[in-house]
Amino acid sequence: MATAATATAENDKPAAGDPPVLEARGIVKRFGHVEALRGADFTVGKGEVVALIGDNGAGKSTLIKTLSGVHAPDEGEIRVGGRPVHFATPVDARRAGVETVYQDLAVADDLSVAANLYLGREILRSGPLGRLGLLDKRAMRQGAAAALAELGVRIPRVTTPIAMLSGGQRQCVAVARAIIWATNVVILDEPTAALGVVQTGRVLDVVRRARDAGMSVVLVSHNMPQVLEIADRVEVLRLGRRAARLRADEVTTDDLVAAMTGSSGAERD
Ligand SMILES: Nc1ncnc2c1ncn2[C@@H]1O[C@H](COP(=O)(O)OP(=O)(O)O)[C@@H](O)[C@H]1O
Ligand SMILES: [Mg+2]
Repeated sequence: MATAATATAENDKPAAGDPPVLEARGIVKRFGHVEALRGADFTVGKGEVVALIGDNGAGKSTLIKTLSGVHAPDEGEIRVGGRPVHFATPVDARRAGVETVYQDLAVADDLSVAANLYLGREILRSGPLGRLGLLDKRAMRQGAAAALAELGVRIPRVTTPIAMLSGGQRQCVAVARAIIWATNVVILDEPTAALGVVQTGRVLDVVRRARDAGMSVVLVSHNMPQVLEIADRVEVLRLGRRAARLRADEVTTDDLVAAMTGSSGAERD
């Protein structure tokens, strides 16, 4: 058994020399006098779930926003598949296969579930005289229902306005939208922070399905048991820099807290 497990783990590892799917190198980001990132590094390999943790204000959301085209870094480099990229907007990041669910914004309340899943990517059909430009709502409804079923997201009707859903269902729609369109990496900034236990479990199930389908996932979370449960690796951000890289199966929640606060004896400040 042990031999088989080891062999599987080795087979799953990216081949030596395989570039990370997404990488940040030496990112500096300032807001006026505040230096939110001070040379931050971050790496995600193919098919990995990487948790990004750190104390409040450590720079997690800022790092996520530079990786997804919301903020341009003042210094440093972002690479996708080993190639340097410049994301001027989130649209550029999406084109590179990087989809993000931000901490502070998820879905459009007044639109239906299907409209949210296709927001900015509407399917059009040709109207009278062959003009393209009418929304193909039927195609989007069918596509949305199929995609949600595949991800195990249970929502009675895709025509329901988002405002009618529970917090957990909404978050599942936001996460599903990211997973459906991502081709490389899904980034989730605290996706379960506002959810109860059952709803959290559903969101994590969706994350697992994405991982099982070969997607890479970055998960920002404050919930240390959750981090150890779902992540393959953990990267710790402290004061705008990477403070540690850990394998989830080799550490305890105490180790994570020590790395976040810098209280581990091996480290100097
Ligand atoms: N848009 C902004 N304008 C000014 N300061 C910001 C902005 N975004 C983040 N910061 C500051 O950058 C630091 C890191 O914030 P943030 O990335 O949100 O941390 P975290 O997500 O780890 O809690 C904090 O000091 C925060 O106040
Ligand atoms: Mg944050």
